[in-house]
Formats: sequence, C-alpha cells, structure tokens
Amino acid sequence: MTELRPHAPSTFTSEEPLLEVVNLKKWFPVKSSGLVRRTVANVQAVDGVSFSVPRGGSLGLVGESGCGKSTTGRLITRLYEPTAGQIRFEDTDIAKLSKREMLPYRSEIQMIFQDPYSSLNPRHTVGTIVGTPLRVHDMVPKDKVLDRVRELLEVVGLNPEHYNRYPSEFSGGQRQRIGIARALALQPKLLVADEPVSALDVSIQAQVVNLLQDVQREFNIAFLFIAHDLAVVRHFCPEVAVMYLGKIVEIADRETLYSRPHHPYTQALLSAVPDVKQASVGGRRERIMLQGDVPSPINPPSGCRFRTRCWMAQDICAKQEPPLLQIGPRHKVACHFAGERGSTGHVPITLKALGVNSHGDPVPGEEPMQGLDAPGYSPMFKDRETHLRESEPLADR
Ligand SMILES: Nc1ncnc2c1ncn2[C@@H]1O[C@H](COP(=O)(O)OP(=O)(O)O)[C@@H](O)[C@H]1O
Ligand code: SF4
Ligand SMILES: [Mg+2]
Repeated sequence: MTELRPHAPSTFTSEEPLLEVVNLKKWFPVKSSGLVRRTVANVQAVDGVSFSVPRGGSLGLVGESGCGKSTTGRLITRLYEPTAGQIRFEDTDIAKLSKREMLPYRSEIQMIFQDPYSSLNPRHTVGTIVGTPLRVHDMVPKDKVLDRVRELLEVVGLNPEHYNRYPSEFSGGQRQRIGIARALALQPKLLVADEPVSALDVSIQAQVVNLLQDVQREFNIAFLFIAHDLAVVRHFCPEVAVMYLGKIVEIADRETLYSRPHHPYTQALLSAVPDVKQASVGGRRERIMLQGDVPSPINPPSGCRFRTRCWMAQDICAKQEPPLLQIGPRHKVACHFAGERGSTGHVPITLKALGVNSHGDPVPGEEPMQGLDAPGYSPMFKDRETHLRESEPLADR
C-alpha cells in the first residue's frame, strides 16, 4: 500500500490570490406543487462564504456531508449560478458573467469529481474523453491531439497506448487518473477537486493524492481540495477551511488548525482523525461524539448554526450569529466562545465586533464592525489570549 508522502511544504506558494471568493451564496428554491409553482422556501446550501486561494497554492475545504462543499465547488466552476457574492478570478469577478463571457475562463478552472464511474462517458474511449477538451478549445492542431493525449496519459501514470480503451476496462483508481488527465488537458490555473479520492479503495487513495501533488508542483496549479476527511486534506493543503451548514466556521494554516482548533465543530471533527486525535483534545485521548445530524439548510438554527449540537451553547448563541473573526496571523474562527478545548473564557469574544452585550442584546451607541466578510487575513487581528488589544502589525514583530 502506498504511503502518503510527507506534507506538502507549509509555505504558501505565493501570497498573490488567484481566486478570491467574497460572501458567496447559493440558495436553491423549494417550489410549491400545483399549477402556479411558487417559491415556498430556500435550501441555503452555501450562505456567505469568503476565502482565497493563492496562485499555485491549495486550500482544503472540509465538513460533513451536506454542509455545502460541492455546491461551493460548482459555483466556482460556474456549473451553478450564484445567488449572491463575488468570485474574483485573477481580478475579474466571474460570478455574473454570461455563458459567452465565461468561455475564456472555462479552460482555466477545471473540476475533478468524486465519482470516477459516473463522470466518464462509458461509450467514449479514453482518447476521446481526454482529447475532446483539446479539440473544443483548439489547444493543439488536430493532427497533434493524439500525441498530446498520450503525453497526458503518461503524466497521470497510465499506459499511453491505452488511449483506445473504454472506461470500463480500467480500475477505479485508473479512472480517476483519466479524470485528472482530462482536467489537465486545458492547462488550468485552478483545479477544484471534489472529494477526488473518497470513492476509491483506501489502498489506492494515497497514490492518487501523491499524483495530484506531483501535478500541482509540476504545473503550478492551484487547488481547492474538497474532502470530508481531515486526514487527506492535511497532507495536501497548507491552509484548511471547515464548513458547517453553508458557512465557514474556522479557517487557518494547517499547523494552527490541527494543533490548536478553536471551534467546537473542528475539535469534534479532529477528534475522529486517529493521527491528530491527541493534539485536538489537549493531550487527552477523547473522541468527541457529535449528537444528532446536521439540521436542514431549509430552516437552519437561528444565531450560530452549530448550536443544536454544541456542548458549549449559551443564550447569545441562539440570538447572534458569530462572525468569522481573525484571532491569529492566519486563523479565523466563528464562535462566541472560541478557544482551545478546556480553556474557553466566559465572556464572548465577539461582543465588540457585534456591538452587543453578553446576552446578545444590542448595546445602544455601539455599531457592528463592517468588512468581516473579506477573504484572506489582515496584519491586524483580535488576539484571543490578550483579549483587549489588537495585535501589532506582523511586520513590526
Ligand atoms: N441542486 C440542488 N437542489 C436543491 N438542493 C441542493 C442541490 N444541491 C445540493 N443541495 C442541498 O444543498 C446542501 C449542500 O449540498 P452539497 O453542496 O452537495 O454538500 P456537500 O458536498 O458538503 O455534501 C444539501 O442540503 C443538499 O441537499
Ligand atoms: S457560537 Fe455558541 S453554539 Fe456556536 S460553536 Fe460557539 S459556543 Fe457553540
Ligand atoms: Mg459533496
């Protein structure tokens, strides 16, 4: 069985964002039955997420099934129309571009899907599957398409002479390699990989992750790597965002997120990952069992969406939604009582940002802070340890 290689370098490949997502939303309308079909509710699948992916870097997006990861990926590739928000790709907001205006960006943002069985057309040969994007986008002269297909098959570790075989003649891992070759054909700058190894046998997951790491380095491709398994993302991504019910609840550099998670949901997810269990619970080997299921995104809980499963919930959690506050150089968390497990304070850390008292009621004269939905990190942040002062700009440290 192939081992996962040591982690990818933890340096952020570049500070320049390739992709910046700002307050992105996708609500799916629920229609009434009958002749006049009115919208009676909305599935709030993605409800205001902001993050950035550096050029050539990779961001991991994790969370339980149903929390909005795939919808986020499909919005970025514009397979879905966003309800609101911005998707800035190399300084162009592609969120509202028409199909025609989107064309030049189609080749630059590619997606790898979870299921290598259903994402490949069984009636087409591998040569056709990998060669079609080359032809459609005029990437190479017609008589050079086959040569390029062979090269791409070789890059992903397949026999280049198997171009005239059908998907059914390959194993699951090999089919995912075909999907990767197809995504690479257009030399994308960004790959959205939606649980690319979840459907694969455990014994071959590491091989495919290692391949993705190789292609990332070789072609300087940025990744949005979606997974429900924190262990996989840890090896691939220097930065990880945790989603719950359509929102990002914590985002941080890998070292911080895995060793000092500040959101109860992240702590619970991490306690289920064997190799990081110790760190996530402050030295005690204790699995945090989450009670119940993820609530329906049609009618999410008021205030903090995690409160129905949170063992620390207080009154304020039902009244006020915790903003995603920056509490470290590369660490943001959305929890009124954010802190390492066992060391959370009694005073909500969000009062100043929200302009409320500790019961969650507005304080006359205090205004909520603006701009908390900006992606990326600021050199100034709210230091949770010292509570009262803002931290020094990083450059002065
Ligand atoms: N096309 C759709 N129409 C209505 N609801 C959808 C659609 N796609 C996803 N959803 C709902 O949106 C939520 C998020 O789904 P998804 O993004 O697939 O989550 P994840 O990938 O994290 O498992 C789920 O509740 C799902 O049922
Ligand atoms: S805001 Fe409240 S309910 Fe939400 S995670 Fe924090 S303590 Fe739990
Ligand atoms: Mg999904």
